[in-house]
Amino acid sequence: MPPRTTRVVCLVRRPDGEPALGDFAVEQRPLPPLSEGRLLVRNLYMSVDPSMRGRLESTEKHYTHNFTPGSPLDGRALGVVVESRCPSVPPGTFVRHQLGWREWAVLDLAETDAAGRIDPQLAPLPTWLGLLGQTGFTAYVGLTRIAEVRPGDTVFVSAAAGAVGSAAGQLARLLGAERVIGTAGGPDKCALLVKEFGYDAAADYRAEPVRDALARLAPDGIDVYFDNVGGEQLAAALHALRTGGRVALCGMMSQFGGASRSADINQLIQAVLKRLTLRGFIVRDHDDLRPEFESRVADWLRSGRITARETVTDGLDSAAGALLTLLDGGNVGKMLVRLADDPYHRA
Ligand SMILES: NC(=O)c1ccc[n+]([C@@H]2O[C@H](COP(=O)([O-])OP(=O)(O)OC[C@H]3O[C@@H](n4cnc5c(N)ncnc54)[C@H](OP(=O)(O)O)[C@@H]3O)[C@@H](O)[C@H]2O)c1
Repeated sequence: MPPRTTRVVCLVRRPDGEPALGDFAVEQRPLPPLSEGRLLVRNLYMSVDPSMRGRLESTEKHYTHNFTPGSPLDGRALGVVVESRCPSVPPGTFVRHQLGWREWAVLDLAETDAAGRIDPQLAPLPTWLGLLGQTGFTAYVGLTRIAEVRPGDTVFVSAAAGAVGSAAGQLARLLGAERVIGTAGGPDKCALLVKEFGYDAAADYRAEPVRDALARLAPDGIDVYFDNVGGEQLAAALHALRTGGRVALCGMMSQFGGASRSADINQLIQAVLKRLTLRGFIVRDHDDLRPEFESRVADWLRSGRITARETVTDGLDSAAGALLTLLDGGNVGKMLVRLADDPYHRA
């Protein structure tokens, strides 16, 4: 008997400062009726993203709508169709969609991008939310279209052990970068950057000013900065960039909670002096690149030239904690929650 309700993570109240577990609760909510054109999906994995942090606030509009206290959260997820009222998507099909933070979802195919099929034979299911998903695509768009990485470039990536960062370092190399430098929090992550993600050098931003680290690791300067954190690291990169350097502004992990960094903004004079290009982007504006991205990255995955890495917690009850862990730097690679048994997972 298909379920009529689902467990879902709701926002109890907006965070007062840093988010806390008490700001979230798992509640039982009714599922919409399975009318014509709809799919009942058992979610298997859900993505945990930094953008959730901004969406908990009322003031600033982030990538998409902000959450309301008392309402369910949502976000990227992947599941299997259990019941279908749409003949072209039979039960057993694996789909990616936007109704994460819940165990079951009813998807309406009349809504744009409600469900994209994925092929579990091509790559493991978690990879479809990570390296082959929005995460890897963000790194690809930032490097190819925004920063226009060229053979021979020296590329610097911040939050380099995270989901986008671990993809960006590897992709930069595959796109021809000569030297790839990353920053991350702590010695263990820095070791991983070099050992697992192919970075030439890594610096721990908590142990050393990034401006000093870049002077040491890239004494001749950098050509490209892939910015995931803003603040001090962006200011340091502005100093290290060569004339004509390019910056892909992807995200600002250090700026959540309205942290003021006026001293860093003052460094923008570097952009004038060195004729830099700084370009922000939102990945969903670049969907025309997706087929090219999927084909190239799937090839690199198959041939073992790129590694997908995830940090996975188990069960919907762990989801709010997974978000707090991500914001605190407790993840390596893509942060995911497994919501049900993965038929393809081998322990
Ligand atoms: N523009 C777009 O369309 C788009 C799309 C997706 C993601 N993004 C952005 O891409 C960035 C990375 O996202 P992700 O999903 O890959 O997350 P992630 O990098 O896997 O996780 C966030 C990481 O940020 C680091 N961090 C946290 N606070 C920090 C601080 N104050 N200073 C420096 N680093 C800090 C932590 O690593 P450490 O342990 O190293 O500190 C943490 O692991 C985010 O800024 C996100 O908003 C943008």
